[in-house]
Amino acid sequence: MKIFLDTAHIEHIRTAAECGCVDGVTTNPTLISREEGQFEDIVREICEIVQGPVSAEVVSTDADGMVEEAKKLADIHECVVVKIPMLLEGVKALHRLKELGIKTNCTLVFSANQALLAAKAGATFVSPFIGRLDDAGHVGMDLVREVLAIYENYGFETEVIVASVRHPLHVVEAGVSGAHITTMPYAVFEKMFKHPFTDVGLERFLADWEKVKGRS
Ligand code: G3P
Repeated sequence: MKIFLDTAHIEHIRTAAECGCVDGVTTNPTLISREEGQFEDIVREICEIVQGPVSAEVVSTDADGMVEEAKKLADIHECVVVKIPMLLEGVKALHRLKELGIKTNCTLVFSANQALLAAKAGATFVSPFIGRLDDAGHVGMDLVREVLAIYENYGFETEVIVASVRHPLHVVEAGVSGAHITTMPYAVFEKMFKHPFTDVGLERFLADWEKVKGRS
């Protein structure tokens, strides 16, 4: 499974990239608004660090506006993937961008039918938001499993990005489901490293090594 970071925080992205565990990044207007600097500069810097797909979102809500924004975003760096919201106008834009050879990530996906339409229109990636579904009393991962089954049944090449991830168990469930990618906040990435038995085990090894060091 590919791991993407769902953040625009440069230092967090750099740290995770140094671990060799990060295949891409997803951003959205909310995440960009938390960082200092110009939007284009932030996106370019992220692309240079990860050298993998970096989603940057349009803010137009009509197909013409989305396509024009998408062309400008794609010019920032070859790694840019244009995030398009799941609307009828968005699906038109996905179709036109496929023909222009611009990679897309259809975002704000909350149903299997939305994911089916995005794939038919030629989206490169689709992002079901599982945490927000959980918040509303649904089982977000059920949507991921439905989307994967539909794509498998009909041979769609669109890759599924499990998004709106809130905790490490979401990552495990995404991996078991066979989803192509999980995008996660840096805090979830950090938690994936942690296990109390690892800390206790290391403490004991180091304490025992102190006894060996004391030998003449
Ligand atoms: O990848 C989508 C993500 O940014 C949304 O997450 O936590 O705002 O639902 P959240």
